[in-house]
Amino acid sequence: MNRFAGKSVLITGAAGGFGRRAAERFADEGARLVLSDLSADRLEQLAAGLRRGGAEVAVEPGDVCQESTAQRLVEAALSAYGRLDVAVNNAGMMHPFRKLPEVDSGLAEKVLAVNLTGVFYALKHQLPAMERQGGGVILNMASVAGLVGAPLLSVYAAAKHGVVGLTKTAAAEYARRNIRVNALCPSFADTAMVHDELAQMRGGPDEALARVLGAIPMRRLASVDEVVGAMLTLCGPESAFVTGVALPVDGGLSAV
Ligand SMILES: NC(=O)c1ccc[n+]([C@@H]2O[C@H](COP(=O)([O-])OP(=O)(O)OC[C@H]3O[C@@H](n4cnc5c(N)ncnc54)[C@H](O)[C@@H]3O)[C@@H](O)[C@H]2O)c1
Repeated sequence: MNRFAGKSVLITGAAGGFGRRAAERFADEGARLVLSDLSADRLEQLAAGLRRGGAEVAVEPGDVCQESTAQRLVEAALSAYGRLDVAVNNAGMMHPFRKLPEVDSGLAEKVLAVNLTGVFYALKHQLPAMERQGGGVILNMASVAGLVGAPLLSVYAAAKHGVVGLTKTAAAEYARRNIRVNALCPSFADTAMVHDELAQMRGGPDEALARVLGAIPMRRLASVDEVVGAMLTLCGPESAFVTGVALPVDGGLSAV
């Protein structure tokens, strides 16, 4: 498929698990990329590989907690490619598994800033740019923790519920401007980060994994490609009438 041929696609958190794979798959389908993350080094490595494969890639490191980053990323897309067709607001972070009163307050502010305020800043600068060019597509990375309660992840869940609220509202405000805004809500994927988190939980990694899988009707973790595949589908032309959706990719977790 070549669904994104010539399209200008911005991805934040591009050096991480989902972001990196999304960059590869958008590039495979012809996209011209602006990649952002905290670390310039990891981005440059990723960009070098993608360029060897023939992709056009601009790298723009930055912290999504700063509003100036959101503005700079939109400007980078406009200056490199003249437009911003697709924005994937994917940067995010969890906090350690803790009951709510045990979550450090400073860390809670950081988790809200990265996961929620960062998406607000992104939308604030992406929507007007897309409106000026006549349309666009935005995908916000939420989580199944944005749809249902997530024991031991209270502040992360609050932030991701907030992302769903921003997504639905922005979708309604900009539907007549030809801008689609959706959120993706994965449960845990089979990544190093998730296994590291599970290792910190009560009873150790195997027992923790068994507890997590017990809540998932399909009784397994998502693969990174299953999550990223849904990401591309929501951004692609086959989803032209889909907006304001918070799509679970969760093996049935939120259905029961
Ligand atoms: N991994 C999962 O199972 C899972 C499940 C549901 C939702 N999510 C969400 O998917 C998104 C990507 O997760 P992932 O698994 O690829 O995680 P990851 O940790 O591998 O990647 C996240 C990336 O975001 C970047 N980042 C963190 N803080 C940032 C900041 N302030 N400014 C800019 N970049 C920053 C990190 O450097 C990292 O490269 C996140 O929003 C996460 O909450 C992940």
